[in-house]
Amino acid sequence: MTTGDITFHTRKWVRPEDLNANGTLFGGSLLRWIDEEAAIYAIVQLGNGNAVTKYMSEINFVSSAAQGDLIEMGLTATHFGRTSLTMRAEVRNMFTRQSILTIEKIVFVNLGKDGLPAPHGYTTITYDRDRVPHQHQHQHLGAIAT
Ligand SMILES: CC(C)(COP(=O)(O)OP(=O)(O)OC[C@H]1O[C@@H](n2cnc3c(N)ncnc32)[C@H](O)[C@@H]1OP(=O)(O)O)[C@@H](O)C(=O)NCCC(=O)NCCS
Repeated sequence: MTTGDITFHTRKWVRPEDLNANGTLFGGSLLRWIDEEAAIYAIVQLGNGNAVTKYMSEINFVSSAAQGDLIEMGLTATHFGRTSLTMRAEVRNMFTRQSILTIEKIVFVNLGKDGLPAPHGYTTITYDRDRVPHQHQHQHLGAIAT
């Protein structure tokens, strides 16, 4: 589902292990989910499994979720840099329909095989799977000795 420019890809079910001492959704669980969501988005957009989180802007938790609620996470690319991709994120509670948080800037950096920032060459969003990497990130080289 899309609102504005954000496409909501992933839904999560708030389970007991995702709660804080107040009995509501633990911020750490939510941030882990967002970081993974952003990593997947960046890999699909940049065509490189080797992209890392560089920067997240202010995070303001405006409402929460309770055990058993469903939440949905959305991301959109807002800027393609030379080696970086900037995204905007929003998380909503599907039960209360309230926004839980928005993050204006999440920056991922595209890394080369040497682990250093590498140009990705893209300037626009793909809505397809045309950039999805076709190789495993960590090949077991040397397994076949000839
Ligand atoms: C990612 C990393 C290799 C970047 O190194 P760096 O020396 O900052 O690289 P650069 O200065 O060349 O910047 C790379 C890109 O990041 C952007 N960038 C760097 N610092 C930034 C910041 N604070 N905010 C937003 N963007 C930033 C730069 O603008 C550049 O983008 P562009 O090429 O599209 O213009 C390095 O910081 C690193 O290894 N960080 C740890 C990453 C990591 O492990 N993350 C997982 C969580 S621990």
